[in-house]
Amino acid sequence: MQSTPKTFRIKSFGCQMNVYDGERISELLTDRGLAAAPDGADADLVVLNTCHIREKAADKAYSDVGRLKRDDGSRPMIALAGCVAQAEGAEAKRRSSMIDIVVGPQSYHRLPEMIAEAAGGARPVDTDMPAISKFDALPKRGRANPSAFLTVQEGCDKFCTYCVVPYTRGAEISRPWADIVAEAHLLIDSGAREIILLGQNVNAWEYDGRGLAELIRAIVRIDGLERIRYTTSHPVNMSDSLIAAHGDVDKLMPYLHLPVQSGSDRVLNAMNRSHSVESYLRTIEKVRATRPDIAISGDFIVGFPGETEAEFEETLQIVDAVRYAAAYSFKYSPRPGTPAAMMEDQIEREVMEDRLARLHSRIATHQLAFNRSTVGLDTRILVERPGKRHGQMIGRSPWLQSVHAQTTAAPGTMIDVTMTAAGANSMAAAIRQKEAA
Ligand code: SAH
Ligand code: SF4
Ligand code: F3S
Repeated sequence: MQSTPKTFRIKSFGCQMNVYDGERISELLTDRGLAAAPDGADADLVVLNTCHIREKAADKAYSDVGRLKRDDGSRPMIALAGCVAQAEGAEAKRRSSMIDIVVGPQSYHRLPEMIAEAAGGARPVDTDMPAISKFDALPKRGRANPSAFLTVQEGCDKFCTYCVVPYTRGAEISRPWADIVAEAHLLIDSGAREIILLGQNVNAWEYDGRGLAELIRAIVRIDGLERIRYTTSHPVNMSDSLIAAHGDVDKLMPYLHLPVQSGSDRVLNAMNRSHSVESYLRTIEKVRATRPDIAISGDFIVGFPGETEAEFEETLQIVDAVRYAAAYSFKYSPRPGTPAAMMEDQIEREVMEDRLARLHSRIATHQLAFNRSTVGLDTRILVERPGKRHGQMIGRSPWLQSVHAQTTAAPGTMIDVTMTAAGANSMAAAIRQKEAA
């Protein structure tokens, strides 16, 4: 049996929504009198906030659990949270006797009660998706990073045939307008200068007939906010009003993450993506007509069941057509319970690895070209954290590039810079003279 924990540590894996959930869990536990364990020190409670999107996610989570055993044979109280917890449910307790608590992404507001139950010797499991939002039961926001996440939409109704998210996060739900605006105020009052609106399909956010563009227009009016971004968007929800916002909302940053997954219509159809190559390219064209300098990023899956060499080459072609400023690419990973996992013609690992390497190098070419195209530009960066070198700070450009600069400016400051050099994954910049004087 475990005693009541006084200190905790949270490890978040996966997407930005898990990072956001990790922050909220941390605030919840702090609010209930627990303290974050100092770096390097043992914690009485460890929350593993897991991701189920790819590869052997569940196996990895169990081996992470196993590693929490201490040299003297003791262990912390262990809560398995996040998407693996949702997918495994009570099975998790059977697979590992070290797991005390299993809690899904929609029920973590119940953690304090579950911790008390675990301290009493029970092994509670909660993977409900309650109608009443967990957000109502969470404490108010605390300290915020200069760039802060704000989840506005959760879940997914799209059911792409390869994806677990509709099962682990549940149906698409939009948080109410007033709650989001109130949370944005709190984040800005706590030091945020940039807000990144999050959702699995953030551009499907809709409340009382209002869409994401209107929400963005409302949030940018809050005093103290310098920038706003949103992610991840689905191509079919890229409305004209949202595209228009990129043209006239100065604080909306010129960056759009718009996953396409494949450049082949046959594969997109088998993936149940509900957009075609042509409709995707048309959307990109419209966005660029509205905001010519916009940086486009995307996600790709290689080796979806049945993907031929010719179909893969169509993916390389769409990369060239869009000239992505950044992109993430993954080997297809069969997820238990999804339709694609049951499809014939699963692609061999060597073929997938070869395709992934070719896609990576094509993406890298365009990323470097984009970075080079910004050398010499005068722009502003939001300083976020110290860099490795003495006196160096790292911030983000409007196009979400990581930018290194020698400056004494503190995190949370906007500084005027000239971009001086481009790397594969980051930029160097110099403070513009008038600010330095
Ligand atoms: N809702 C977002 C993000 C989904 S998860 C979207 O639709 O774009 C993030 C990325 O993981 C996806 O865009 C996809 O590229 C990748 N992904 C999802 N399931 C996968 C799987 N089974 N195998 C490999 N990559 C996957
Ligand atoms: Fe997964 Fe598709 Fe939903 Fe994205 S849109 S979360 S890839 S099912
Ligand atoms: Fe992973 Fe769940 Fe996010 S599966 S990508 S943590 S929604």
